[in-house]
Amino acid sequence: MLAGYSGKAKNIEFIEDEKVKIIFRDSISAFDGVKLNELDNKGVINCKISTRLFQILHEYGLETHFISSSKDDEMICERVEIIPVETVCRNKTAGSFCRRYGVDQGIKFESPIIEYFLKNDDLHDPLVNKEVAVNMEWMNSEEAMLMEVITRAVNHILKEVFDLINLDLIDFKLEFGRNKDGCLLIADEISTDTMRLWVKKTGEIKDKDRYRKDLGKVIHHYEDILNRLNTINDLPNIETQTEANVNINLKSSVLDPAGAVTQRSLTRNQHETIETTRLGKNAKLIFSEFPSFSLLKEIKGISSEILSNPLIEDFEIELKYNL
Ligand code: TMP
Ligand code: ASP
Repeated sequence: MLAGYSGKAKNIEFIEDEKVKIIFRDSISAFDGVKLNELDNKGVINCKISTRLFQILHEYGLETHFISSSKDDEMICERVEIIPVETVCRNKTAGSFCRRYGVDQGIKFESPIIEYFLKNDDLHDPLVNKEVAVNMEWMNSEEAMLMEVITRAVNHILKEVFDLINLDLIDFKLEFGRNKDGCLLIADEISTDTMRLWVKKTGEIKDKDRYRKDLGKVIHHYEDILNRLNTINDLPNIETQTEANVNINLKSSVLDPAGAVTQRSLTRNQHETIETTRLGKNAKLIFSEFPSFSLLKEIKGISSEILSNPLIEDFEIELKYNL
């Protein structure tokens, strides 16, 4: 027996070369495992949907743990250490958002909302914020920034892809992990179990809410999603909105004559409470590439080698995805 573990719907086996085999079972669960059933063929369908969606993300250059599909119900993935905080991206209100804030479902957000949840069934996956997650060392601040922009980029891509097959992406959950080199990858699964999809115009529910709400014909609708995905030949042309702002400042130990001149002028104009003024510079880089750990590494290289002088300057990178 290989080492590994079992989740609520999948088994994970550790295999050679820092890889894992993820086996999708026919189990389905809701309400933190309180409701549990077996549905024929669910493992195969979810594995195929997940495989297709990971492949699509790869085609747009996103970095995920997915390597290949070995059998109908199995994926081979990079072994990662899972970050215990998952991101949820919402385009319209539904589910726990409506319960938490007492609002109707189906209200469209002006721009997509990102939330963070701690992965802990016993605590019912509580909502957390970035400050809590970083302070508790569940992730570092760089990972928090990347998780947010990557989740926004995935939303942009999946929304456009589902739009092609007449489905409205209401919300979805992503998990992230670090591989042995510390590279942040999208992990776990992306399937009808982890997102809400409604048929456009009619609002018919096609996702796990069919099971949560006992609407019936769960597998029929999951299979329909897979069939619709399989009809897509050409992926939509999506222009990325990845932006990096690099703020460059003189190190605090380095004299800043221009800042001192500005400071004197401020004091002369009665702004006596300003004690120190330091002037920096900003570089805005707009990429034709979706956000990723590798892109951030490239921006760090550019920042230290070209945009700043590491002997006298420090820099900070802020990544944004403008959707
Ligand atoms: P929620 O409305 O229950 O917070 O869920 C938001 C989305 O995230 C929904 O598509 C279901 C998905 N999700 C999971 O896949 N697993 C989880 O553990 C949770 C809390 C949500
Ligand atoms: N995936 C979680 C569970 O199995 C929550 C949910 O999907 O409702 O309980």
